[in-house]
Amino acid sequence: MALSAKLTSLLVLQYATESHAAVAYRSFAMQLRALGMHATAKHLRHESKGERGHAELVASYLEHRGADVTLPATEAAQRVSGPKDAAERVLSLEESVTAKLGAILMAAQSEGDVLTCEFVRPMIAEQIEEEDVARLLLAIVSASDDILSVDQEIAIKFGE
Ligand SMILES: [Fe+2]
Ligand SMILES: [Fe+2]
Repeated sequence: MALSAKLTSLLVLQYATESHAAVAYRSFAMQLRALGMHATAKHLRHESKGERGHAELVASYLEHRGADVTLPATEAAQRVSGPKDAAERVLSLEESVTAKLGAILMAAQSEGDVLTCEFVRPMIAEQIEEEDVARLLLAIVSASDDILSVDQEIAIKFGE
């Protein structure tokens, strides 16, 4: 069973969304590092690598299913005004990733595309932790205006 045009375009969109998250987190890491938030920057670099891995998983899946696609350029990251803005954007990106993965699963279920269902379910399950980590990051950076003590707290909580 070939991948439908609808699922193909949803998966290409997923590739773009994961790639954008990777670039955004890497960019936020640079901006926060410049403020002296080294542990927070390290955490975001680590998250960025995870998103690159997700984009690659989607690209491989498209390949394995024989999809005839070209991959889109990655949308540039926006500048953030500080750690809280960065954390809010991380949480909103994660929620958007979860919603898009959910749309893929629902479309795959309605088409009876079991391969895509099985491919996307572990990615959705991973979003439980991804969203939790993003909420914890936002809670920590929202708790104080002292960016260096916030950074220490991030180092403790994420062990990085
Ligand atoms: Fe991801
Ligand atoms: Fe993520």
